[in-house]
Amino acid sequence: MNKQLILALSKGRILDETLPLLADAGLVPAEELGKSRKLLFDTNLPDVKLVIIRATDVPTYVQLGAADLGVAGKDVLLEHGAEGLYEPLDLEIAKCRLMTAGVKGAEPAHARRRVATKFVDVARRYYAEQGIQAEVIKLYGAMELAPLMNLADEIVDIVDTGNTLRANGMEPRELIADISTRLVVNKAAMTMKHETLKPLIGRLREAVAKRH
Ligand code: ADP
Ligand code: PRP
Ligand code: MG
Repeated sequence: MNKQLILALSKGRILDETLPLLADAGLVPAEELGKSRKLLFDTNLPDVKLVIIRATDVPTYVQLGAADLGVAGKDVLLEHGAEGLYEPLDLEIAKCRLMTAGVKGAEPAHARRRVATKFVDVARRYYAEQGIQAEVIKLYGAMELAPLMNLADEIVDIVDTGNTLRANGMEPRELIADISTRLVVNKAAMTMKHETLKPLIGRLREAVAKRH
């Protein structure tokens, strides 16, 4: 039986918080990450390899079985959809909120609200649930700029301290979802590779619990 596990990690801010958690669970990369252009790494465990990829690509890798398990923000998972994925563990890192936000004090000017976001599916679902007509405009970053430039009336984006909103004359409005980083596992791998997956998930669960 193939016992080899591939774990997909989100690069960027999640990675910095993931590595100490993995270390607490007894999993350490065999070499320093980011020292080269390498994307695939051995670890101290002969059965486990790591890939370091864009946060938004993690659900795709795990869903299609190129990786057996992965670490991804709930925001990314909500946008991607959960088909083919188990989400057995909240890693409780990179906590933030997915919110609507607008220019401070401004009323939505258009009957059909223009909403700039990179979370287009989440935004469409949210405004539909609220019974608000929305035109969703896809952006890839710096959403906070869109209302200032009159590209949109509102944004849907991540809020943590609120500093980015404040610095751009904006205010948070409605909470869409509380966000944290989750462990996701390919459904087929969960069955086929149960023997190697189960102890690793168990050690990660203990590492998260130990932090309380
Ligand atoms: P990206 O380049 O896609 O924005 P990041 O590394 O900035 O990637 O963010 C990765 C994940 O970290 C997001 O999907 C989200 O879950 C979480 N996150 C994003 N921004 C913040 C923030 N300001 N504070 C805490 N967590 C955040
Ligand atoms: C994220 C997010 C917000 C900001 C919120 O951006 O998209 O802009 O953090 O955090 P705050 O409420 O503490 O200000 P990030 O720093 O990841 O920049 P990005 O546009 O490169 O994703
Ligand atoms: Mg970011």
